[in-house]
This record gives sequence, C-alpha cells and structure tokens, in this order.
Amino acid sequence: MRVLTIIPTYNERESLPTVVTRLRAAVPDAHVLITDDNSPDGTGHMADEISATDDHIHVLHRAKKEGLGPAYIAGFHWGLENGYDVLVEMDADCSHQPEQLPLLLDAVHNGADLAIGSRYVPGGRTENWPLDRQLISRGGNLYSRVLLGTRIHDITGGYRAYKRATLEAIDLDSVRSRGYCFQIDLAWRTERLGLNITEVPITFVEREEGVSKMSKNVTVEAATSVAKWGLAARAQTLAAKLSPRA
Ligand code: GDD
Ligand code: MN
Repeated sequence: MRVLTIIPTYNERESLPTVVTRLRAAVPDAHVLITDDNSPDGTGHMADEISATDDHIHVLHRAKKEGLGPAYIAGFHWGLENGYDVLVEMDADCSHQPEQLPLLLDAVHNGADLAIGSRYVPGGRTENWPLDRQLISRGGNLYSRVLLGTRIHDITGGYRAYKRATLEAIDLDSVRSRGYCFQIDLAWRTERLGLNITEVPITFVEREEGVSKMSKNVTVEAATSVAKWGLAARAQTLAAKLSPRA
C-alpha cells in the first residue's frame, strides 16, 4: 500500500518539524504532502526546506487561505494523480499522534473504505482539550446524528485514512465545504455510498504550540450545512417513496 499523509498548514511553524519527525519515525514508508495556504509566518518556506532534505516529503503551495476543505481537496487530487493507494488526513499540531497512524492503516488493510480516528468510541479520548471545545465537538456530533441520522460517533474528527477508491467514488469537485464541516461532508458522502466506515479509538491531544483556526464562521457554516444536507436527504427519501415504481 502506497500511503500519502496530507497535512494542511496555516501558521504552523512551531509544530511542523515535530509532526513531520514523529510521522517519519512512526511510519517510515509513508509519503507526506504539506498543503500550505501561503502562511504569513513562513510555514510554506519551512516546508520547502524540510522537503529538500527528504524525498518522502512533498509540498503543495496554495495562493491564499481558503479553509481546510479546499486544502484537502487539492491534496487528494495530487495524491490520486500520483498513484497513492491510501490518503491520510492529519493535523499539523500533533493533536493526531503520528504513532497511532498504524491503527488507521490496519483498519484499511482489514477492509475499511474509510477509517476514522475516533474520540467517541470505547477506548477513544481527548487530552487537555478545553471544556468549551469538548462541548462544541460533542454537540456537533449529536447535531449531525439527529439531522443526518449518521451512525458515525466522531463525524467531525480529522484523523482519517481513505482508500483511494473511496475518494474516486466521491465527486470531489462538487464539495463546497470550506471549514471543519468538510469532515462531516466527506464522511456523510462515504456513508451514503454504502461504503465500509470503521472508527478506530484514538487519543486526541490538545496542541502545545500555535493556535487553533476554529472560528465563528466555521461553526456557522457547519450548522447550516448539516441542516441543509439533512433536509436534502429527507426530501430525496420522500421523493423515492412517492415516485411510481416502473
Ligand atoms: N492549508 C490550510 N488552510 N490549513 C488549515 C486551514 C486553512 O484554511 N485552517 C486550518 N488548517 C490546518 C491547521 O493548520 C491544522 O494543521 C489543521 O488544519 C487543523 O486545524 P486546527 O485549528 O488545529 O483545528 P482544531 O484543533 O481547532 O480542530 C480539530 O478538531 C476539529 C473538530 O473535531 C481538527 O481535528 C478538525 O479537523 C476537527 O474538525
Ligand atoms: Mn488543532
């Protein structure tokens, strides 16, 4: 399995060397793609310097900050074009411990079309995460469960491994989500396709360097998008029931 770990970055200078070093040690065969949105703190330049010394590390420079969604979509296209079998999502701030990546890869190896590192299945947890963030995260998952009827426990989680065929089955260019609802969007699309989703318990560790890019806009976008997707799915189910059978 050729594995590509995509790490989106926006002002992650303090964290980037650590996450890359830990990842290279934990899964030496995996390649890494840093997707930087022209970070004002020079993260992109630092990524170029790291990549110059290691043929497993690649960098994708994007012109400006457009959110997590577009950064990942660009990374997925790059990975698919370059022939990778598994595409991994990982935050740059070490909240997703590189040492736990083999757990996700094992799940894919054992048949998962999407493996999600989950804080909310038995064995999963968070460490040092402020109470307000825990509540938003739990609330977001509950909200998605009610409105979408999803069976996924950590649908906002951003530590994932996608089988290549899963991303090929999704129309990536139709994805409009910009912020963290991108995670819900793709998990929901995968679930609707009837693909096999496995949640693997992980420990999410709050960052020690830099700051979160969570914002009010990100939260509002997520709340409205999930409501929209839930209504659309219900309308579709209803239309299918009403349409005369051939
Ligand atoms: N390229 C790019 N562009 N990267 C971005 C952008 C952007 O606009 N916004 C955020 N990132 C990167 C950050 O640099 C980091 O590597 C990663 O995306 C996650 O951002 P954080 O700001 O650290 O997220 P968080 O810790 O608040 O949120 C975590 O929990 C959310 C809720 O469960 C993440 O795991 C999210 O993915 C998750 O949805
Ligand atoms: Mn973080």
